[in-house]
Amino acid sequence: MDRIAITGGSRLEGELPISGAKNAALPLMCASLLTPDTLTLGNLPHLADIRTLKTLLEGHGVATNVEDEGKDISSGQVITFNTPTITSTTAPYDIVRKMRASILVLGPLLAREGEATVSLPGGCAIGNRPIDLHLKGFEEMGATIELQEGYVRAVAPDGRLKGGIVQFPTVSVGATENILMAATLASGNTTIENAAREPEISDLANCLNAMGAKINGIGTRTLKVNGVDQLHGTEYSVMPDRIEAGSYAVAAAMTGGELELLGADLIKVMTETIGVLKSAGLKFTNTDNGVLVKLGTSKIKGINVTTQPYPGFPTDMQAQVMAMMTLCDGASVINETIFENRFMHVPELSRMGADITVHGSTATVRGVEQLLGAPVMATDLRASMSLILAGLVADRQTFVNRIYHLDRGYERLVEKLSACGANIVREDGKGI
Ligand code: EPZ
Repeated sequence: MDRIAITGGSRLEGELPISGAKNAALPLMCASLLTPDTLTLGNLPHLADIRTLKTLLEGHGVATNVEDEGKDISSGQVITFNTPTITSTTAPYDIVRKMRASILVLGPLLAREGEATVSLPGGCAIGNRPIDLHLKGFEEMGATIELQEGYVRAVAPDGRLKGGIVQFPTVSVGATENILMAATLASGNTTIENAAREPEISDLANCLNAMGAKINGIGTRTLKVNGVDQLHGTEYSVMPDRIEAGSYAVAAAMTGGELELLGADLIKVMTETIGVLKSAGLKFTNTDNGVLVKLGTSKIKGINVTTQPYPGFPTDMQAQVMAMMTLCDGASVINETIFENRFMHVPELSRMGADITVHGSTATVRGVEQLLGAPVMATDLRASMSLILAGLVADRQTFVNRIYHLDRGYERLVEKLSACGANIVREDGKGI
């Protein structure tokens, strides 16, 4: 296995390009199943999850073509997705188990073909993560759902879903995306109540409308969809990754440096994160090409933060902010309300000298003077980023192992950080 070795102490300075958002790209790729025409997606990041989903889609009959590999560090891929016919409506366990977002093919397959057999995703490191809200939503639209040998078998009566009212008891990003995609081709109108409002969902809805869907209420908690008989192709560029941007903003602050995060509209898509980071002392300045970030105070200020669905503070930034709070002036309280087990980074940060105590879903972080380099273990995507951040400021060397977690969501991380002065290298085959 590979590992990343970091020698801490360098200030990060310069320009850092922000890639297309993984959590927008994945549902957008699944939307290609909804049309027999070609969907062209630009600004796609080079990530393991993108490759995994591309393989899954090809198994359903999607013909893909990489129009532009996006070799330059600041450019994403352009890939076309063309599905004249769906050749298989089964999403196999060996792929779905690797990436929970594979469940997002369920809605499009059900909508286009009237049936789908998708492996249950199974839990992952950060929690059980069931799909009951997805399945209840499809039943509201007339589908019959059966569980067979670890697979979900969904069938639309008479081959087509019916519009309905889907009321989510709790907010779910994936369930909102799955039902939204299915509703575009259902017969009649669908209302989705208590919909998730993450910017990535608006990105998906805007692309679907460009494909001929009729979606209203984008960005609000109530989405209204008038079903149509067919969608056509379009060209669409994936929005910038607000979580990647937030992660590197934290890196700038922790190292006492200054980074210009390059990407259009970044400020607009990361407002909820900026609010919290500003209260910790970070300073953001708009530039022509993105946003300039640095620590505006002598020390990071301790803050109390609770993760919430958008527009609240994102759970995907929790581990990164916790890494920053290990050096804060005073103490910080972090409350994780979205996932039941998203503190896997705490024991690893503690091995680097952090002072963190966890009670249930609340972590209290007391600032220390210096983190200490150590070999640490990544456990999930955002936890692995928190360990990279800690390594950037720790004394001596930090070795982050199991970085396959990192490869899922951070494109060209070593290149991007090296270009801004970090002493960081990837060591193939040396990990544990
Ligand atoms: C999306 O996951 C993101 N992934 C996650 O990002 C993100 O953390 C999460 O939304 C919350 O913002 C992608 O977009 C690919 P949810 P998703 O459905 O859709 C429970 C990252 O680091 N729930 O909003 O799976 C669930 O267990 C990843 O990039 C049900 O109970 O999240 C969780 O506790 C990690 N039943 C809560 O809702 C369901 O049917 C929120 O989950 C669905 C979800």
